[in-house]
Amino acid sequence: MSASPLLELAGIDSFYGQIQVHFDLSLAVPEGAIVCLLGGNASGKSTAMKVILGLLRPRSGHVRFAGEDITGLTTPQIVRRGIASVPEARRLFPAMTVRENLLMGAYQRTDRAKVAEDLASLLDRFPRLGERLDQRAGTLSGGEQQMAAMARALMSRPRLICMDEPTMGLSPLFVDRVLELIGEINRSGVGVFMVEQNASQALSVADTGYVLKTGRVVLSGAASSLLDDPEIRHAYLGKAAA
Ligand SMILES: Nc1ncnc2c1ncn2[C@@H]1O[C@H](COP(=O)(O)OP(=O)(O)OP(=O)(O)O)[C@@H](O)[C@H]1O
Ligand SMILES: [Mg+2]
Repeated sequence: MSASPLLELAGIDSFYGQIQVHFDLSLAVPEGAIVCLLGGNASGKSTAMKVILGLLRPRSGHVRFAGEDITGLTTPQIVRRGIASVPEARRLFPAMTVRENLLMGAYQRTDRAKVAEDLASLLDRFPRLGERLDQRAGTLSGGEQQMAAMARALMSRPRLICMDEPTMGLSPLFVDRVLELIGEINRSGVGVFMVEQNASQALSVADTGYVLKTGRVVLSGAASSLLDDPEIRHAYLGKAAA
């Protein structure tokens, strides 16, 4: 029998009031994998992150993490189990310094000495942030804010990091750097769940992809096969269907 996935969404139906956003949404992030959820505007990508993080309780279905049913737990309880998030538009605390923002990522940790060590090693990985520790986060460039939001998420020592459109609005150079960092984070043993509209870039680093259309998974599979799929090429890569 194969081991259970790190994260699993099973049969999720979610609603905002009377409006249904997800219809029987199921997906899995195996241990050690990078999984991307693709889809156009309003398809329910960010809402899927809210369901995982406990910010929206699904009407039916289950979220399981490391074999445990976490549906209905509070966000702090979920974070404590090892899920970190990099939300849409990064959501840093703009008036706080970069250092303060990074330390917020570790707010639930009690191992203070280790937190200081982790901060130091993260700054090796994100040297730009090291140069800007005392700068207010709101004054960072968009690309730097993305780095800071990723570094803040890593400060909780997660087993899974969930990212909402990490490459949105970034210059090609920063897009490449963010994708490289996602690969590095993953190789350090952290599972990655990323939501993206930028299909070709997300699929270039992911192992598996799911395509969401108005709240339903319409296609899923190995990232390499999705990249070759005529429907994906047509709908998301701006290329004519073969
Ligand atoms: N708090 C809310 N209350 C009511 N409806 C909401 C709320 N948040 C999102 N929605 C609706 O749910 C649907 C899915 O939204 P969601 O943000 O998950 O889409 P998305 O795939 O992330 O889109 P985008 O690519 O534009 O970020 C949309 O129709 C949106 O208007
Ligand atoms: Mg969104």
